[in-house]
Amino acid sequence: MDNTFRIAPSILSANFAKLGQEIEDVIKSGTDIVHFDVMDNHYVPNLTIGPLVCDAIRDLSHNVGALIDVHLMVKPVDRIIPDFAKAGADIITFHPEASEHIDRSLALIRDHGCKSGLVFNPATPLSYLDYVMDKVDMILLMSVNPGFGGQKFIPATLDKLKQARARIDAYTEKTGRQIWLEVDGGVNANNIAEIAKAGADTFVAGSAIFGSPKDTDPNRYDSVVASMRAALAAV
Ligand code: DX5
Ligand code: ZN
Repeated sequence: MDNTFRIAPSILSANFAKLGQEIEDVIKSGTDIVHFDVMDNHYVPNLTIGPLVCDAIRDLSHNVGALIDVHLMVKPVDRIIPDFAKAGADIITFHPEASEHIDRSLALIRDHGCKSGLVFNPATPLSYLDYVMDKVDMILLMSVNPGFGGQKFIPATLDKLKQARARIDAYTEKTGRQIWLEVDGGVNANNIAEIAKAGADTFVAGSAIFGSPKDTDPNRYDSVVASMRAALAAV
């Protein structure tokens, strides 16, 4: 992971009939992380993929050098965390509203050998971080309400990113430990630079990447990823 800025394609918008090929092609186009959205039709009104699919894509993702970033939009979280760790997840994040014991759930993720993270919905306050900074490796700010790809970026996220960045920088100054700051929802080549300037270092993008024509050219994602990289290079 040499890139200062990491791009994490959300496979929610990929062609599931060809999921393995989609992942190989999108990572080879210059992205870093497979963002894996898990929804349960309970915590969010949609139903997606589970540990079985994570296990199916683990080797090919790791073979092309990508981490698997499991974004849990399920409630409760503790029962399913070990299953994803066993299925090859590198990072597991969850929403504080979905756990009765946030500190315990974060520890559970690490106990199973994964990086841990908390996810903040647009209206969820960052104060959930007050007593758990030592237990998080990633902070994920939702820039849409969770549940669906293809929604519009909520501009108030920019100010929240600045606040999260300030918390992380103060913490890193004190401890020397890095925490990644990820943003998820409505990110595209036109707004990614502004989002980076607000403090994000890891960018989830679903529809903006996979929305390109679904042909079979293995380089079909090169141009959209290159335009995101160019925007980031100018920050
Ligand atoms: C939404 C998911 C996102 C989603 C992003 O609940 O967490 O990861 O796939 O999709 P886009 O980039 O299309 O907003
Ligand atoms: Zn997500």
